[in-house]
Amino acid sequence: MSQALKPQDTRVLVTGGAGFIGSHTVVELLNQGYQVVVVDDLSNSSPVAIERIRQIVGESAAERLRFYQANVNDRDQLSRIFDAHDPDRVIHFAGFKAVGESVSKPIEYYANNIGSTLTLVDVMRDHGCKSIIFSSSATVYGDPDSLPLTEQSPKKPATNPYGWTKWMIEQMLADLNTADPEWNVVLLRYFNPIGAHPSGLIGEDPKGIPNNLVPYVAQTAVGKREAVHVFGGDYDTPDGTGVRDYIHVCDLASGHVAALKWMNGREGAEVFNLGTGKGTSVLEIIRAFSAACGHEIPYVIDPRRPGDVTANYADCTKAREMMGWEARFDIDDMCRDSWRWQSQNPDGFAGA
Ligand code: UD1
Repeated sequence: MSQALKPQDTRVLVTGGAGFIGSHTVVELLNQGYQVVVVDDLSNSSPVAIERIRQIVGESAAERLRFYQANVNDRDQLSRIFDAHDPDRVIHFAGFKAVGESVSKPIEYYANNIGSTLTLVDVMRDHGCKSIIFSSSATVYGDPDSLPLTEQSPKKPATNPYGWTKWMIEQMLADLNTADPEWNVVLLRYFNPIGAHPSGLIGEDPKGIPNNLVPYVAQTAVGKREAVHVFGGDYDTPDGTGVRDYIHVCDLASGHVAALKWMNGREGAEVFNLGTGKGTSVLEIIRAFSAACGHEIPYVIDPRRPGDVTANYADCTKAREMMGWEARFDIDDMCRDSWRWQSQNPDGFAGA
């Protein structure tokens, strides 16, 4: 059983803590009084994010943050970090996440995402740390038979190596708990995280052409792209465009803190959906973002993107009833905060 600890006595190691969801979660952890050690190799993130986290939380909370530029798959370095800090809990965000790229680079995706998770849990076991929260994804539900999706909805075969890595890591961590019930495993299945910290200091900073909708919309709004390409206008949805459950990244961050509190003093393996329970179409997103930025955002309707599902949205009853967590922000809040981040940082952290 994980020992019940107060936040100020809990050392949380966060892999990928300089990334989009990781950085927002680190802010929330520091605001709640936790001791935080970030391990990030900065392969898809910036040291500026760490500086900005310090700025958001203020000097005194920032003293509880340690940052290591290290790859989770570097066993020796990870072991040294564990030796130095003796973490009580781990939140594991680090991983490659570009769906299209995973199709052309399966070896890199499996080696990095699966390999680093295996290294991580092995080093955790060596150090007697058996509490882990993992960044999973609604992608494990594939093309749903019915909506909303509950945690009981079946997992479906993934359509790309990225999705398989989420699928397989979920299984690996559940197997760990079967083998040794002292392992405390929480799998958080995110729906579509968007938005940014209301300060406008941290947000999503994709390299190159964004794969995901909202960063593309934001870059179009700021004039870096000509028009949004809407992937499919002939879906069986009210306006013909794809429907997703978008969730504010700050709600996701508070979901991780809720999970930490829930796992405190417990053991077992649990899975929670983190979404809002509400479906929003691509055109509704474009409209809400246009309202947030104050001008119309041009778009064109293109063919469907292979592998996309028509609609998905979550049933989040389990997270509410068991962890007392629910999303607070709506689509307008998400677009407003994405816009603030994008307009204040048109070139992301590189422009800082
Ligand atoms: C995608 C991944 C999913 C991953 C998640 C992480 C795919 C098939 N799925 O989810 O595995 O966990 O990102 O954030 O890539 N859209 C457009 N134009 C664009 C981009 C997207 O119309 O330029 C549409 C899509 O068709 C979809 C919606 O916007 O209906 C959301 O797309 P996106 O933001 O890429 O997220 P998902 O595809 O849901």
